Amino acid sequence: MGAHDQTSILFVCLGNICRSPLAEGLFIHHARERGVLDRFSIDSAGTGGWHVGNRADPRMRATAQSHGVELVSRARKVDPGSDFPMLTGEGGFDWLIAMDRSNRDDLLDLGAPEERVRLLRSFDPALTGKPDHALEVPDPYYGGEDGFEQVYHMVRAACLGMLDELAS
Ligand code: 4NP
Repeated sequence: MGAHDQTSILFVCLGNICRSPLAEGLFIHHARERGVLDRFSIDSAGTGGWHVGNRADPRMRATAQSHGVELVSRARKVDPGSDFPMLTGEGGFDWLIAMDRSNRDDLLDLGAPEERVRLLRSFDPALTGKPDHALEVPDPYYGGEDGFEQVYHMVRAACLGMLDELAS
């Protein structure tokens, strides 16, 4: 558990402007709806730094907005020094939640402790037992508009499963 007995979660993708801001916004939205938001500390970050300081991609924000979910985060880069626990096991986020295997590998390469790293879709109860390659949230950045809608539903199902698992 993190500070103040909150569970702290860092959602991680590559650019921190599409998938992980969506996961952050959806988790906050549904935790608030369930009245358990105060039990969590939620943030997102990217393994790449190209978009630092930017709001989420307008297409991702529009998709979320069409479902009543607002994305307010600003992109930042993963910071191993503060996002990961020290060698003593203290500090850092309780959970480092990767959108795809490449994000997960990047986190592990940066020194994230394996036991705190999971793929987001491993929390989707409909996908229990699936191999890791079937648990990726695809990057919608270079695709068409429907990619954002598909990603929305994937990330929503996983965030609801995560809330069931972590807030019960
Ligand atoms: P994200 O998507 O990882 O879901 O935020 C991306 C956005 C931008 C880039 C890559 C992925 N980019 O290379 O600029």
